[in-house]
Amino acid sequence: MAETRRKFLNALIGTGLVGWLASVLYPVFSFLKPPELPEATVSSIKWGVATDFPAGTSEIVKFGRTPVLLIRLDSGEFKAFEATCTHLDCTVQFRSDKKDIWCACHNGIYDLRGLNVSGPPPRPLSQYAVNVVDGELFVAKAEA
Ligand code: FES
Repeated sequence: MAETRRKFLNALIGTGLVGWLASVLYPVFSFLKPPELPEATVSSIKWGVATDFPAGTSEIVKFGRTPVLLIRLDSGEFKAFEATCTHLDCTVQFRSDKKDIWCACHNGIYDLRGLNVSGPPPRPLSQYAVNVVDGELFVAKAEA
């Protein structure tokens, strides 16, 4: 009788310990390995009213998780490029005085077509399409 009672108590304590360990460890493992969030697929973003974008200026806009450099040239034409340098992923910027796109990290220079013209960048910047529809400015992935 005493043996049965001891086995029962051992099983009860063992089960309780396993349950307690699981309740402590599960949140720790969940915190250390968060679930992967699928990236939202963005095909186009609306910037706003095109006439609000002054000529000779630029702005970095978010295209999903990708920064995009949106430029309005002095001529009024819009250009958009992925703002990540093709060398080591620094963020590039438009230099209105030199009429180029510059990466400050290693002095990489691109022209206003996104072509790498000097410095270490090995490839041109990816280009995005810019459309003005009913006065609204839209940035979209360029057709490959
Ligand atoms: S990261 Fe842009 S030139 Fe090196």
